[in-house]
Amino acid sequence: MNLETVKKEFISELGNAQDLNSLNEIRINYLGKKSVLTELSKNLGNLSLEERKEQGVKINELRNFITEQIESLKESLELTKINQTLESSKIDVTLPAFKIKQGSAHPIEKITEQIEEFFIAMGYDVVEGPEVEQDLYNFEMLNLPKGHPARDAQDTFYIKGDEFLLRSQTSPVQVRTMLANKEKTAIRILCPGKTYRRDNDDASHSHNFTQIEGLLVDKNISLADLKGTFDLLMKHLFGENRLTRFRPSYYPFTEPSVEMDVSCFNCQQKGCNICKNTGWITIGGAGMVHPNVLNMSGYDSEKYTGFAFGFGAERIAMLKYGITDIRTFYNNDLRFIRQFDQRVGENNEN
Ligand code: DAH
Repeated sequence: MNLETVKKEFISELGNAQDLNSLNEIRINYLGKKSVLTELSKNLGNLSLEERKEQGVKINELRNFITEQIESLKESLELTKINQTLESSKIDVTLPAFKIKQGSAHPIEKITEQIEEFFIAMGYDVVEGPEVEQDLYNFEMLNLPKGHPARDAQDTFYIKGDEFLLRSQTSPVQVRTMLANKEKTAIRILCPGKTYRRDNDDASHSHNFTQIEGLLVDKNISLADLKGTFDLLMKHLFGENRLTRFRPSYYPFTEPSVEMDVSCFNCQQKGCNICKNTGWITIGGAGMVHPNVLNMSGYDSEKYTGFAFGFGAERIAMLKYGITDIRTFYNNDLRFIRQFDQRVGENNEN
């Protein structure tokens, strides 16, 4: 085959090469060991010196030409391939990004933390106790022996006989803390936690709720200290203009016992449905720690006195946020929970 024909055929084949694979085949056909050019080079020996020189130069020129053509097409095919890959894997930076949903504190958690901060600032420690409790701490050492009629007020979930129960109040943490204080020194604690009662759930009852308990034991503590503490807490939670009052009450673990009320923040005591037209809202129970309770935990009630109080975190949250059904705290509707998230609108639109 003569060199001109080889060149023509090469040019036409090159024109049809669409991708790097077919280009590689052309390279092998025209420049490889079995190619026409190699054959022709091998045959040079059969030619005369003159012809050999002339033919040798032509073969080389054609070889160089073919090599250059292949190289330049290879470059442009590679570029096309890179562009295609870039095109197909392109990231559209104008697409809206996925919103990251951020969790937020539950309203009960928020209220609890707010109250904790208030008491921590006054030197109280936050203490927790077990939710599965012994009858001993939940009742007996709080001056509620077996068969005491006041036990009925807290319809209790018992586990295994009558020794273990789901605590019906956070007051057992008082007993545990006083027992654990071996030196019998002063105590200032706040005990928030879950409590359980066999109540039928409705708008104002839940079999599981959160109590916040406080205990202060020291020398020369009086009911006036309790009043001052409660008064400050109510102003902290419901505003500077709140008034507070105590009404006589009964709890076996305190003597005297009181109900603690705050003046209605909604109607300024003119009368509304929140305060049931009385101008006052009941927050919880309290009193001076009963001498029996102090003595049973190893404190000398002649030397030490103390006050204790307990109230529901749900109740405070309902009042503060205007929530009318306690069950909404527990049925895990995210639309409800997210109302309390300051970041609403930023991250939680989806
Ligand atoms: N444990 C009481 C209850 O669940 C609340 C309470 C009242 C706690 C008086 C106290 C207290 O510490 O002194 O109804």
